[in-house]
Amino acid sequence: MEKNIVIKEDSIEIAVAVNATIAEFESKYSKEYFQERINGKDSLILVAYADNQPVGYMVSYKKHDDSSFYCWMTGVNPVFRRLGILNKLMRRLTEWAKQHGYKKITIKTRNSRREMLSYLVKSGFNFTEVQPQILIEDNRILLEKMVA
Ligand SMILES: CC(C)(COP(=O)(O)OP(=O)(O)OC[C@H]1O[C@@H](n2cnc3c(N)ncnc32)[C@H](O)[C@@H]1OP(=O)(O)O)[C@@H](O)C(=O)NCCC(=O)NCCS
Repeated sequence: MEKNIVIKEDSIEIAVAVNATIAEFESKYSKEYFQERINGKDSLILVAYADNQPVGYMVSYKKHDDSSFYCWMTGVNPVFRRLGILNKLMRRLTEWAKQHGYKKITIKTRNSRREMLSYLVKSGFNFTEVQPQILIEDNRILLEKMVA
């Protein structure tokens, strides 16, 4: 059945609750962990609701002292995937970043996150760096996309 998907700016608590449903994330991060990351920084917490249930999240913040905005963590509850939720979260982040004077979105993922890599390539992100790890699947992949 078709779901009504709504993206909202929301609280850390809700983002943390959705994070706990992401099967692929080994660590289920605490509220304190999220807070520490964004404390004192320009930040945006987005939550996706499907028929009023929180099922996706995206946490971004100003990481570098330049015109970039960093998309730090995102995920969608496995039951609600392939409904365009990541696409909607990223579209909202992009609009927000533009309105707040940022010129590009940056993101770090890894070789093992194939769905995310597919999405990033398809939606126009460019690769900027690979940071090798002991296991090649864990190599960090840095990407960016101009928004203005
Ligand atoms: C990556 C993730 C957020 C995608 O969420 P989603 O809401 O299902 O994504 P969308 O429905 O918006 O899909 C957007 C595009 O991503 C790509 N994509 C998503 N899932 C895919 C899959 N299983 N296989 C191939 N491509 C996929 C496709 O290009 C898709 O567009 P399409 O449906 O028109 O083909 C979700 O799979 C997830 O939470 N994964 C685990 C956590 C994770 O990897 N987070 C990112 C860490 S950096």
